[in-house]
Amino acid sequence: HSADALSRDLLDWYDVHARAMPWRVAPADRAQGVIPDPYRIWLSEVMLQQTTVAAVKDYFERFTRRWPTVTDLAAAQDADVMGEWAGLGYYARARNLLKCARVISTERDGRFPDSYEELIGLPGIGPYTAAAVAAIAFDRPETVLDGNVERVMARLHDEHAPLPGVKPILKAHAAALTPQHRPGDYAQAVMDLGATICTPKSPACGICPWRAPCRARTEGTAADLPRKTPK
Ligand code: ADE
Repeated sequence: HSADALSRDLLDWYDVHARAMPWRVAPADRAQGVIPDPYRIWLSEVMLQQTTVAAVKDYFERFTRRWPTVTDLAAAQDADVMGEWAGLGYYARARNLLKCARVISTERDGRFPDSYEELIGLPGIGPYTAAAVAAIAFDRPETVLDGNVERVMARLHDEHAPLPGVKPILKAHAAALTPQHRPGDYAQAVMDLGATICTPKSPACGICPWRAPCRARTEGTAADLPRKTPK
């Protein structure tokens, strides 16, 4: 099970099973040359931190209807943005969102930077968001590590060491699998796999595209991974 074979099997699965999302370019459209809007990818990824896809959809639609571009958002009144954010929680995210929109609008003429290195450090953009935007919006081979990806990697490699200490090892596993071909689709595919097949409880191993190489499936440990250090 080479890294190439693993990423290919996951991308084949994603071509059939990619979830539709208001900000997502479907794999068939991407193959035809449709390019995602970095503003929409960034906005969705900020909203998705600590919030489920289902909960984010309506907020995303309202935001993008009211502020279709990052320059529109930059010109918004703070109170209007906070009002539209109400209910999503973690209000520092909304304040940073507006700060970031204003930096991109005024200092970068409304264009998002296309690399991890330039994205990281913008207001509210940490390692997760920088990697997600670089990969999904700009098809850069960056490694996206969220809770879904951590769980998938812990199981694929049957890693029993607990979170959070094992994170760097899971990140290394994830990086080793990140392909040069279609990295944007791949990043979304691992997250979809974690959200729909490799779920925290009762994972659907029988229909998983990685059922053959998965070491936790062989060992019968999938549902117990990743382990966590008790608080
Ligand atoms: N969770 C957060 N970002 C996601 C994405 N781009 N695709 C699927 N699940 C996600």
